[in-house]
Amino acid sequence: MIQIDDANHFFKIDTPHTSYVIAVVEGYAGNIYYGPKLCSMDLTYLLHTVLPKGRSSEHPEDRQSFLDLYPMEYPCFGTGSYTESCLNVIRDGQCGADLQYVGYELGAARHQTGMPAAFGSSETLKLILWDPILEIEADLYYSVFTDTDVIVRSATVINRSQETVYLDRAMTASLDMEDKEFTAITMSGAWAREHFIQRTEIPYGGLCAESNRGIPGHESMAFAALISKDCSETNGEAYGMNLIYSGSFLMKIQKTPYHLIRTVMGIHPDTFRWKLCQDESFDTPEAALVYSGQGLSGMTHAFHDFFRQHIIRSKWQYRQRPILVNSWEAYWFDMNYDKLMALAEKAQAQGIDTLVVDDGWFGHERSEPSKSLGDWFVNQKKIQGGLSHLHHELQKIHMNLGLWFEPEMISEDSDLYRAHPSWVMHQKGRRPVLSRDQWLLDFSNPEVLEYLYNSIAKVITESGLTYLKWDMNRPICDMGSEYLPADQQMEIDHRHILGVYCLQERLLRQFPDLFIENCSSGGARFDGGMLYYSPQIWGSDDMDPVERLSIVEGLTMVYPLSAVGSHVSSDPCCNTGRKMSLTSRTNSAMMGSFGYELDLTKLSAEEIDTIRPSIQTYKGIRELVQKGAYERLASYRENKRFGAVQINAKDQSKAVIYALQVLNQPNAPAPFIYLRGLDPDAVYEIEGKQIHGDSLMHAGYSLVHAEHDFQTQLLIVTKVNKKGAEQR
Ligand code: DGJ
Repeated sequence: MIQIDDANHFFKIDTPHTSYVIAVVEGYAGNIYYGPKLCSMDLTYLLHTVLPKGRSSEHPEDRQSFLDLYPMEYPCFGTGSYTESCLNVIRDGQCGADLQYVGYELGAARHQTGMPAAFGSSETLKLILWDPILEIEADLYYSVFTDTDVIVRSATVINRSQETVYLDRAMTASLDMEDKEFTAITMSGAWAREHFIQRTEIPYGGLCAESNRGIPGHESMAFAALISKDCSETNGEAYGMNLIYSGSFLMKIQKTPYHLIRTVMGIHPDTFRWKLCQDESFDTPEAALVYSGQGLSGMTHAFHDFFRQHIIRSKWQYRQRPILVNSWEAYWFDMNYDKLMALAEKAQAQGIDTLVVDDGWFGHERSEPSKSLGDWFVNQKKIQGGLSHLHHELQKIHMNLGLWFEPEMISEDSDLYRAHPSWVMHQKGRRPVLSRDQWLLDFSNPEVLEYLYNSIAKVITESGLTYLKWDMNRPICDMGSEYLPADQQMEIDHRHILGVYCLQERLLRQFPDLFIENCSSGGARFDGGMLYYSPQIWGSDDMDPVERLSIVEGLTMVYPLSAVGSHVSSDPCCNTGRKMSLTSRTNSAMMGSFGYELDLTKLSAEEIDTIRPSIQTYKGIRELVQKGAYERLASYRENKRFGAVQINAKDQSKAVIYALQVLNQPNAPAPFIYLRGLDPDAVYEIEGKQIHGDSLMHAGYSLVHAEHDFQTQLLIVTKVNKKGAEQR
């Protein structure tokens, strides 16, 4: 609910358990409270108008002290505020803006702009800010939902003057708060070890989660949290912030000398400058804000519910996800029709329903990364008879077809490059930088998008594929376009991602049942923006169960488990060289949307025989994986011994626990886990034993004594009855 006190210019934005209060002081909209739900909105006693003692000037035009102290909703650069700003406007070569509150609208629909937008909000507030000198308006949007403690913020900047201006930065939001000795959580990583949780003290000056790579990258995630000193999994305060965007981003957390923590989030200003002519507007991406008074798990639950219910639109969100076999780590580029059919037959016999033909099926000679990107026609030498024949043969054995594309790329050795050299993103006079042997297409050019849409749509129509894996295997640099005029060259980074959104949107409109899985050399573009188009994203190229503990821990702190593509790969793991049993690899891969990625024809008869029962087990927990509430019971990153997670049915009727004890220690007690979120009064069955919910949660449950390294357990917990309370 959103309440407004018109007389005092107070706005109280309530979610089911939280309140966010905005006040207008000296013309500036500021956030004076964000935390547990309040019954009153009268917070006038809190207003930060008292200047610290010893300041130099009492002159009414001296706003410096006020701007240093006031928790601004949308601070501007160049007019007296020196902390991180949301808006930098250049007009006549000068940079400066000053936005003051002029009004509001309740129930305003947000501008739709070809970008991901949360759906199903119950109410939206628009605050209107105005700079009378520049004649620039900034509309700040706040949306709430009845079923999750998330507030979605975004901004639209409108040029109402006759002059052309340039936005040097146009961020989504600023969240300013008193410093309660917060620690920051951000994610760090690199290829094959992405999404590692990092906790950092916030220094004066600040710290960043950021990417200037045109994708969020392996190195970072468009997420940051501020947590209180006492914050644990289940207690303490956590403020989570997530930018729903798939390009370069900045989340800067600044601690000011006046004990204010400012977090500014939005498109990265380093790779951005946007031209705005008269009456043109610019829409920022949305950001999701969460406050949890129940520690990190409260934050995680709010984010998971939000992404599942208000971002992921795919029809596949709650449909039973395909269980697939992917050809990549089975055959790499060395695939052909016979090998694919052999893999499919082996897979189908065990209950797998989809064959995803990964990289290598297209162009004249895709035998290595340097060739054929852009040539989206089948290589008849490899797939004899073509894709429709392959699909036809797959259908005969009740298998569906999935296909890999990397639409944003072009190889120098491709028909596409030979025909359209000007379509490559590059800077004047410079050869583009090669990365993974490939170049980027200029997505600001509508002809490029048209070509790609037509070629991909043709393959989908002709082959009848149902599953499309959209990959992106290099970061963006070479920010230059032969299509854009000189004063719009710096728009290319944002225009690139708008082009990606536009193509995926068009494909989904044309093929509404299409399952898109996004991917970026593993998990380099795992963000809320891509989830708007695809229900799942490839989490990482590393499927080693030990590494997965950290990777999945980071991902699921924010994104639901159903969004994480997760496969059983070959032994030893091609990334770590670690050998592990098929059981351990399978149990680990079940923590996500499940599949296989190895040459099943090479498995022993004994190993093959385990696959059908494993798939049956997964089918038994698939509903939990797709819809359940996720709990981190033990973090290997922290305890260096074992990891354990629990996923609960929302009605508390069932749960699944996955645990991995990493290195076996002799003469050591078995680890204990303390379950969460069960019905305390009910009796549950676990491993043939009947135990009360409250016992499992408070007295705990012992994992097995490990008999070897990498021992995994998958425990199903089922509610038996509800008579525990009377029995005790
Ligand atoms: C990177 C992806 O993460 C892999 O799964 C695979 O699709 C390769 N690209 C193919 O080039």
